[in-house]
Parts: sequence; structure tokens; C-alpha cells
Amino acid sequence: MAGNWKMYKTPAETKAFFDAFLPLVAESKHCDIAICPPFVNIPAAVEAARGSRVGIGAQNLYWKNEGAFTGEISGPMILSAGAEWVIIGHSERRQFFGETDATVLERTKAALAAGLKPIVCVGERLEEREAGQTDAVLTAQFQGGIAALSAGDFGRIVIAYEPVWAIGTGKVATPEMAADAHRTLRALVIANYGAEAGAAARILYGGSVKPDNVKGLMAQPEIDGALVGGASLKASDFASIVNF
Ligand code: PGA
Repeated sequence: MAGNWKMYKTPAETKAFFDAFLPLVAESKHCDIAICPPFVNIPAAVEAARGSRVGIGAQNLYWKNEGAFTGEISGPMILSAGAEWVIIGHSERRQFFGETDATVLERTKAALAAGLKPIVCVGERLEEREAGQTDAVLTAQFQGGIAALSAGDFGRIVIAYEPVWAIGTGKVATPEMAADAHRTLRALVIANYGAEAGAAARILYGGSVKPDNVKGLMAQPEIDGALVGGASLKASDFASIVNF
């Protein structure tokens, strides 16, 4: 269960979140829990989460370790700040910041080389779903990006299926729609990496996950967890989601 805070919260607000959140998930041992705040809040989040089961992640990284790349942040920097996860290829990055399947692959390789655990996002836009292209889009994103990873590397990533039309819109995919897309993705894992990798792959659903719809989504055996935006900003809501 991963929270994507996007461009929200200051370090002080980060600390306040963890003060409220950690007691609510102290007994939650059934899943991994991650919070991905903005870069500048990573040290505060790491400090606040110390000794808990909650891992901290970044929301992006650049694929070079260091250099003259003004404004960028590298995998080793993120790791040294105490984070262990990193979200890659979020649709907002694809939409607003020029992310492509090729750059998703570069970032994923760099994250793995740095020792971070990537959460790699894929998902179709509304017009693509309405045109019946969902499977084709997911296939293109998979084959044009993460399918180039070695089998060993692939086993270290988490995939997030995030239909773009469901992100921040309150329009959640039905559990059946999400499960269909997850089946498509799992079939791609099997085709590229074999049945064992398919069974082991962790595929999260993301897009308007809330305390009142998480149970239905998680009832689908295909759905292994959730990547949560808006509802991860409030400690009690995200705790309810973790403890679905
Ligand atoms: P949302 O965002 O839960 O606010 O829809 C999900 C995401 O973008 O990861």
C-alpha cells in the first residue's frame, strides 16, 4: 500500500502526518507500506518513520548518478537520504514533463542500480479506453519500457496500473475493470518472464482509491495493493486503506 503525496505537504506537515499515522498502522503486518513525499520532505519522513514498518519513497529520479543536470535528483541521492522506494513513470510525469516509455526504462534501471525499489506506473487515457485501446496501450507501455529489464531486475519492481481518467477525478475503475487490466499486465509478465514471475509480480491499482472503495478493489485476487494519491494525505484515511 503506497501513498503518493504528489506536490503536497511541508516537512512540518510530514512530521504531523506520521505522528497521527504510525499508531494507526502499528499492527498492520499484512502488507508493505510506503509513503512517497516530495523530495525535500524525505529526510523528515525517514526520521519520523524510523523504527516503524513504513518505508519512504521518492516520486521520480534522474538516471545519471551525478553531473551538470540542474534541478535533477539521482538514485544514490535518494537512497542516501534514507528512502527505499521510488515511483517512476507516473501519468502526471508522462502528461506534463515529457516522460516516455524509454525514459521510464532508463529511470527504472537507474533506480535498481542504486538499490531502490521502483514502483513503475502504466495506464491508459480516457480516449484510449473509449476507443477500446486499453490492452494495446498497456502492452505498448510494457513492451516499450520495462520488458527490456533482465529477469532478475524485473523481479525487484512493483507495477502500478493507473488509468489516467481515474486519477484525482473521483472516478474509480470498477473492481472488474481494474482486474481486467491487471490480467492483461500479468499475461505480459508471463509472456516475457515466465509463469513464476507472473505469479510473483505485485501489481497495484491506483486512481481515486478511498477508504470506502478499497475493499471491493482488494477483493479481486488480481489486485495486490493500491497506489493512493489524495487519500494518502490524511493519516486516518490512508490508515483505513492500509487496514482495508
Ligand atoms: P488519486 O491519485 O488517488 O488522487 O486518484 C492516484 C495517483 O496518482 O497515484
